[in-house]
Amino acid sequence: MSTPSRSGVFGEGPNRLVEQFTESVSFDHRLYAQDVAGSIAHSQMLAENGIISRDEQQLIEHGLLEIRAEIAAGNFELRTELEDIHMHIEKALIDRLGDVGRKLHSGRSRNDQVATDFRLWVRDAIDDVDKKLVELQRAFVSRCDRDADVILPAYTHLQRAQPVLAPHYWLAYCEKFERDRQRLQDCRRRVNVSTLGTAAVAGTTLQIDRHDVARRLGFEGVSANSIDSSSDRDFVLETAFVLTMIAEHLSTLAEEWVLWSTVEFNFIKLPQAFCTGSSIMPQKINPDVMELIRGKTARVVGSLHSLLVLVKGLPLAYNRDLQEDKPQLFDAVDTVSACLEIAAPVVQGAELNRDSITAGLDRGYLDATTFMEYLIRRNIPQRTAHHLVGQLVRKAIDKRVSLSELPLSDYQEAHPDLDDGVYEVLGAEKAIDAFVSYGSTASVEVAKQVERWKKKLETKD
Ligand code: ARG
Repeated sequence: MSTPSRSGVFGEGPNRLVEQFTESVSFDHRLYAQDVAGSIAHSQMLAENGIISRDEQQLIEHGLLEIRAEIAAGNFELRTELEDIHMHIEKALIDRLGDVGRKLHSGRSRNDQVATDFRLWVRDAIDDVDKKLVELQRAFVSRCDRDADVILPAYTHLQRAQPVLAPHYWLAYCEKFERDRQRLQDCRRRVNVSTLGTAAVAGTTLQIDRHDVARRLGFEGVSANSIDSSSDRDFVLETAFVLTMIAEHLSTLAEEWVLWSTVEFNFIKLPQAFCTGSSIMPQKINPDVMELIRGKTARVVGSLHSLLVLVKGLPLAYNRDLQEDKPQLFDAVDTVSACLEIAAPVVQGAELNRDSITAGLDRGYLDATTFMEYLIRRNIPQRTAHHLVGQLVRKAIDKRVSLSELPLSDYQEAHPDLDDGVYEVLGAEKAIDAFVSYGSTASVEVAKQVERWKKKLETKD
């Protein structure tokens, strides 16, 4: 039997292995709603331009809506011999309408149809991921008042560095996810371009109106070159890249909170509903959700990598290789969506272990840098001050005390100008009070940023 994509040119049917090997309906069935929307818009344009009659268009539109309802209800059989969702829908239409159904594919090919459907799908996916990013940002912002007075050690090289306010930490993640949102919006502009009507590769000799179809589908514009259009998967790769960045950011959070929830750090208690137990060690409360967010990042990176390799060296224009783009992006979208969805309640529900954090704040000389800056304000050159504070820290380490516990004699020995004013700037809490610069952990600066974020996300708390 000849399948719809095998024209009269074929003298024989396909090898039995070919159908299974070349089918894409097992995954591109996810494009069914987009395919119906694209076909309805295409048929409306065909009618506007006299390529089909208005009555024919009505029949086609009605038939397509029925088919969509059947697929949505699960009453639609998918058969590999029809290759992809596009052929399934067209075949079902032809089965209903005969010759009228056979007119729908005028002025388009599957190459532009697939690209258009996928663009519509990616556009929706971007909007959905964006919403989930906002939810996660909200979860962070909702913690800011609750944790306003908590001082955490900030790390560089995973070594204790400087004290910071907890909200400063939370907003660091908001910033990262904000850049992801911006990347999504930027990428969306290039996704939101119609390729329908560029047909197989050269365009069409039929009098179609591509701008009209684009408008009907909510596209911001139409692609300008038919050869480019059928080969272009930049939009898929760009989206995969942005998703990878989101996953990378999530994996940093996941790694950090896995560490923070250890007995060794003891900074945070993850909500128990989002933890798992051990089948042998009864005492265990494991952070599997965070570990899997970290782990699933590998899949997303893998998808981006596969896509990059997929398009490498492909000659213009459409090549069947491109069919392999969908499973990769579907998986990346599904994975990142699931990670974002589960990260938000974890962020919202985790509790900082205030006592343990505060008890440890004297460890690691978090105030050393602010003390050095105090010396700079006392007119000691930075390099000299840096060296001096290093020596004082060495002394404190030897005596097993904090900088604030060193006697004044040690300070005066280090520099004759120093007096007991030094104790006014020592200790993590006083160090926090000393910050002033824009974007720093200074209380007023952090409060301003929290306000800005609240306004931006319109969080009520
Ligand atoms: N199922 C294919 C895909 O998703 C459609 C290919 C249509 N074009 C072709 N020349 N065979 O890419």
